[in-house]
Amino acid sequence: LLVASQFTHAQDWPTKSLTWIVPFAAGGPTDAMARDIADKVSRQIGQPIIIENTPGAGGTIGAAKAAKARADGYTFLVGHLGYMGAGPALYKKLNYDPVKDFEAVFRFPDTPLVMLVGKSSPYKSAGDLIAAAKAQPGKINFSNAGVGSTSHLIAALFAAKAGIDVTQVAYKGAAPAINDLIGGQVDAMFDQTNTALPQVQGGRLNAIALTSLTAMPQQFPSVAPLAEKALPGFEAATWYGLYAPKSTSKDVVQKMHQAYLKALTDKAWTTRMVGQGIQLLPEAQYAPDVFAKYTAAEVERWRKVVNDAKIQLD
Ligand code: MLT
Repeated sequence: LLVASQFTHAQDWPTKSLTWIVPFAAGGPTDAMARDIADKVSRQIGQPIIIENTPGAGGTIGAAKAAKARADGYTFLVGHLGYMGAGPALYKKLNYDPVKDFEAVFRFPDTPLVMLVGKSSPYKSAGDLIAAAKAQPGKINFSNAGVGSTSHLIAALFAAKAGIDVTQVAYKGAAPAINDLIGGQVDAMFDQTNTALPQVQGGRLNAIALTSLTAMPQQFPSVAPLAEKALPGFEAATWYGLYAPKSTSKDVVQKMHQAYLKALTDKAWTTRMVGQGIQLLPEAQYAPDVFAKYTAAEVERWRKVVNDAKIQLD
């Protein structure tokens, strides 16, 4: 009887609104991306998708909440390379396992990052900032979206590769971290292109380096990739995706994935994302099984990266 009722349930799904947990403050890149995709997927499945911001500890608080949610097809987690990739290597006690406690549903497109500084900053390039950090170790402050967030990890990797010592200041998301950068309380920050772009175009912040391998002349004219001069070979982008608590019905996962693929056929939408610097992926990479394998591989890869770069929870 129980099996039968669950089956009927999956057949009818969705009969009510869904919740996507975003484990950062509203207004940041994860939130912006999640709201945009949720809006498009919601139209396909015919039910509203509510974004629930559950910030703190670099996304690990929201992820733990999602891991414990009922696997009834109505609660999902928007995950990214931090708490779903690097998390196990960084946090000694993590209340969830990105692989064992979740079903991968679909991967989002990737988003590279931009190094931002204030309008009156003396640093006009990554080289300027590296030289200043070498002259005064620890003096330059980078704001980030929380310990283990992308902004934290990429700043730590940048510092490790450049051989400099910077001070990291954690916030509950990129949005409050950006506010303090605009306010001049901190010196620099790595933010995803989708939310960095309006700040740069609006004249509130300067972009001085990109983490993409190639330049982005349309979005960030005359901003050099780190790989070009300061740090040859350096490349980073945030991967994101949707997860459901373990044991969520395969049928629900497939329906969500199909709804997403259908939404992605909207060329006006994908063109707008590309205009924000977002990188579309080959369709096969969005699939649940491919994304599950990717997540597991990322957890392993980050163990080595965190170890090699000696990234710590400071
Ligand atoms: C990050 O740095 O991990 C994200 O930008 C977090 C956020 O969306 O606020």
